[in-house]
Amino acid sequence: MTTLREYLDTTSCKEDLKELIELIARQAEPIRKAFITNQEYVDTENIYGEEQIALDKWSNKHMMEVFKKSKLVKAAASEEEAEIIKFPEAKTEYALTMDPLDGSSLVQVNLAVGTIIGIYDNGEVMQPGRNLRAAMYMLYGPMTVLGLTVKEGVHIFAMNDEGEYLMLEKDVRIPEGELYASGALKKDWLPKHAKFIEKLEEEGYKLRYSGSFVADVHQYLKYGGLFSYPAYKGKETGKLRLLFEANPMGYIVTQAGGRISTGYADILDIMPEKIDHRVPIYIGSKGVIERLEKEFKEE
Ligand code: AHG
Ligand code: MN
Ligand code: MN
Repeated sequence: MTTLREYLDTTSCKEDLKELIELIARQAEPIRKAFITNQEYVDTENIYGEEQIALDKWSNKHMMEVFKKSKLVKAAASEEEAEIIKFPEAKTEYALTMDPLDGSSLVQVNLAVGTIIGIYDNGEVMQPGRNLRAAMYMLYGPMTVLGLTVKEGVHIFAMNDEGEYLMLEKDVRIPEGELYASGALKKDWLPKHAKFIEKLEEEGYKLRYSGSFVADVHQYLKYGGLFSYPAYKGKETGKLRLLFEANPMGYIVTQAGGRISTGYADILDIMPEKIDHRVPIYIGSKGVIERLEKEFKEE
């Protein structure tokens, strides 16, 4: 089986990018180990007014320390930080976006959660997702899995007992599958969204929604369909975050032949207005998203 390093050596990545990707992927081990001792809610909120569990804070702090020590990261923006963190001693131009722990409400019920990372190579995170140099996620489920793109397709790795990542699936392509999911309360869905979801249900699409974006997208990548966290009554921006969730996962799905959209435009083309920019999300198979965009525009 191909190791992560063997795979990276076949790509056009510079050595420092390979090192950075390996370094980030290795942090799955310490983050996983911290699960059992960091379960409780702490008495703080992040910039979105969401309650933080100890593991959100722990993984954020851990990753920031790793970035600083490595000198491989010039700047990092995180879902758990109000400002972009700069690392003046860095020897590279890599700027990262990070959701250190996605799906944190599931930690206490032992369902799959993950870490999402976007990597830009020009020192800047405030730019459209289209410019990403690489994107990756680690998913902490029954296996520790790494999903990675360096703009040369999407590949899935799994960690073995020795802590080494081995390639599980090469060049993943998202099929036109028939899963669907929608976040937000049904009573708050906007009419166009509600109509489209109802249509999918009538067509026989099957509901799959876990409460962890990274775990859900990992599943949609394999089986295909439409995952959404839409704009809804009282929150026309939607809930999920452009920099930390939408762009890296959207970049990966797009590399696998899928799409990510607001319902009207490709999310990867959006210029972020602020670090905590939120966006309505439709992500998954290309066909169903094209159909949705057409219907949203027509009405
Ligand atoms: P995070 O744990 O990083 O705050 O993200 C949670 C996100 C995402 O993972 C998930 O799809 C969604 O919020 C779940 O929201 P609901 O609880 O509203 O379903
Ligand atoms: Mn998240
Ligand atoms: Mn998070």
